Amino acid sequence: MSEGIVVTVLVENSVHGRGLMAEHGLAFHVQAGAQGLLFDTGQSGLVARNAAVLGVDLAGVRAMALSHGHYDHTGGLRAVWEIAPDARLYAHPAAVAPRYSRSPDGTTRAVGIDRPGIEAIQAHAPRIVDTLSTTEVLPGIFVTGEIPRVTEFEDVGGPFVLDVAGARPDPIIDDQAMFFDTSDGVVVLLGCAHAGVVNTLRRVRDMTGGRPFHAVFGGMHLLVASPERVARTVQELRALGVRRLGPAHCTGAAAAARLWHEFPGACTACSVGSRFVFRRK
Ligand SMILES: [Fe+2]
Ligand SMILES: [Fe+2]
Repeated sequence: MSEGIVVTVLVENSVHGRGLMAEHGLAFHVQAGAQGLLFDTGQSGLVARNAAVLGVDLAGVRAMALSHGHYDHTGGLRAVWEIAPDARLYAHPAAVAPRYSRSPDGTTRAVGIDRPGIEAIQAHAPRIVDTLSTTEVLPGIFVTGEIPRVTEFEDVGGPFVLDVAGARPDPIIDDQAMFFDTSDGVVVLLGCAHAGVVNTLRRVRDMTGGRPFHAVFGGMHLLVASPERVARTVQELRALGVRRLGPAHCTGAAAAARLWHEFPGACTACSVGSRFVFRRK
């Protein structure tokens, strides 16, 4: 028997809908039958406020999964655990490492999980599930675990470092996506896609036996991508047969505009308040 899967955007950089608010960050709520989960938690406790406005039941959240350990995806951990104290947390062990972003002037700023978030994780230690490799979060709903970086055109570097001095590059090895199969094909939710959106989709394709891609929503981290990389990404998305695209969060306005132009009719808003309903396979 098939049942629906409902994805609601609770945190994103933009918003549509009365009484909702946006912030730089991302959080998806996924409801599958009686079970709910969160993929990322936004930058602050806004996730709980928007959930209340949208009528999303955070108390019923069985699990949270982190796309990676950056502050704009993990800042709502404590707020969600206050509402759903038994929720399990699925994350790569590297997500909790201190990490920084380096500015052109050489200074660094912390961009990892904030202190209250780390303390909340420590307090819920028995409920933490490591996601080094592909892991089922709820029945039929998975996170990828580590994503092999195989494309030559996706520059997965950037200003990210593991130390205050800015000497040790951070490969953001904890970066992962969420995916599940539906009667129309595979749906993928991206955090920031620091591993590269095409690398991510290739990983998901390998894990789903080549099932067609129905939809890809979330951050594609093309904010500072070269025109060549954006062009190759468009080519690959077309070759992979992605039918619905929701470029969001760190995709960047120029890349998002290009995607909307290249995939007429396939792109959709993915803002706070957006809701997508899928038929389970
Ligand atoms: Fe982000
Ligand atoms: Fe990030």
